[in-house]
Amino acid sequence: MAGSIIPDLINEKPNEFAELYKPSRCKLLKAGKVFLEEFIKGLTDYYKNKDSDIVDSIEMIAPGEGKIIEIDGSKYAVSRNNYEWLDLVSAECTHLGCTIKWNRDENSWDCPCHGSRFTQTGIVINGPANSNLNHYKIKATEFDKYKTQIKETL
Ligand code: FES
Repeated sequence: MAGSIIPDLINEKPNEFAELYKPSRCKLLKAGKVFLEEFIKGLTDYYKNKDSDIVDSIEMIAPGEGKIIEIDGSKYAVSRNNYEWLDLVSAECTHLGCTIKWNRDENSWDCPCHGSRFTQTGIVINGPANSNLNHYKIKATEFDKYKTQIKETL
């Protein structure tokens, strides 16, 4: 395209694509305003949701729900698929490390930062994350007994 437009511009000939590809066609100030608005919205959403789903014990997680639980300073995403079994995944999104959030409508872990989604067992559904979350399945009654093993696995 440049090979067609530039010679015409040099020879001062009309070219139907010259206006379309004109370097000054981008309105940087307008684009900058939109970028700044999106950036601020993303940042405020991130901090608003940051610690909203953290619970102290697995008893606070009802069947079909997922919450973030902290073990010795590390966060884990725990979902309960029935009364007996828990699925644990690391709570840090594999894209850039934001804390994931349970989506009760889809039964998935979603990242509020850039929209990655993971199954209950940590498999990537949607990017930009391209690697799965580490997963650990355990009976609810054995959660306290295996905390150290969970921490080492995730
Ligand atoms: S940090 Fe999760 S999608 Fe980017």
